[in-house]
Amino acid sequence: MDRLKLDHVKHVIAVASGKGGVGKSTVAVNLAVGLAARGLRVGLLDADVHGPNVPLMLGVRRREAAQGWSAFVPLASGSGAASSSNMPPLERYGVKVMSIGLLVGEDQTAMLDNVETVGWLVRNLLTLVDWGELDVLLLDFPPGTSEPQATLLKSVVLDGAILVVTPQDLARLDSTRALRAFQRNNVPVLGLVENMSYLRCPHCGERIEIFHRTDVERPISTEVPLLAEIPLDPALSAAGDTGRPVLITDPDGVQAEALWALIDAVRGRL
Ligand SMILES: Nc1ncnc2c1ncn2[C@@H]1O[C@H](COP(=O)(O)OP(=O)(O)OP(=O)(O)O)[C@@H](O)[C@H]1O
Ligand SMILES: [Mg+2]
Repeated sequence: MDRLKLDHVKHVIAVASGKGGVGKSTVAVNLAVGLAARGLRVGLLDADVHGPNVPLMLGVRRREAAQGWSAFVPLASGSGAASSSNMPPLERYGVKVMSIGLLVGEDQTAMLDNVETVGWLVRNLLTLVDWGELDVLLLDFPPGTSEPQATLLKSVVLDGAILVVTPQDLARLDSTRALRAFQRNNVPVLGLVENMSYLRCPHCGERIEIFHRTDVERPISTEVPLLAEIPLDPALSAAGDTGRPVLITDPDGVQAEALWALIDAVRGRL
């Protein structure tokens, strides 16, 4: 089957990392909200089937009784390609949002144990959703470099990827693997986001390096530009839990500064 190319979307961008829990979903959600606030037409697809966090982070809820799921399950095998795009995305903070988490019932998750199926589900979900015309469609990738990422890389045309790392060495080693996986599939890696980069002391403003910052030079830091450093900040974590991004609740606040820097860096790379 040919790689899926979405005709009405200018840039399909993956937000990925080699490692779990580094802040991919946080970065993807804030990037989506911020790019929409800057006037771009933005979609966000949560491609993390096993830990779909995007709905929570944006405060969107599932439609009644997982409608739509029964329609797209038979398409998951790869034998059938979704042909019509008539599933409306949800809309939040100017972003068109879809997540498998909005479609799958708790009792239906067993079928997701087949990892290759998951890649095909995500591919078909991309086609089934009526995204309309978009400037950017962000894919919040699941962690790691095996499945379902491999199937996604093989089956969807990606215009770029953004890699999220933390200061520790290990994250960078894993991310080098992720970097190579995108490069092998001819996906340009637009840049790195260093998340949980430092902590700003709320009293004196001093920059505290919480995590050990590696001095081993990995290819990832020489080959890929650093787009932004996002500090570790309780406000960002709280915003994720309440579904109210700081870019909306306090766009001019100090918490939003690093996020706007990231958003404008990404705009510059598109
Ligand atoms: N800069 C930050 N400051 C404070 N908390 C953060 C920051 N970035 C992420 N978090 C918190 O860390 C946790 C993990 O973040 P997130 O879910 O975005 O990571 P992920 O890479 O998408 O994880 P997974 O691999 O499970 O998909 C969340 O509770 C999130 O709110
Ligand atoms: Mg995530």
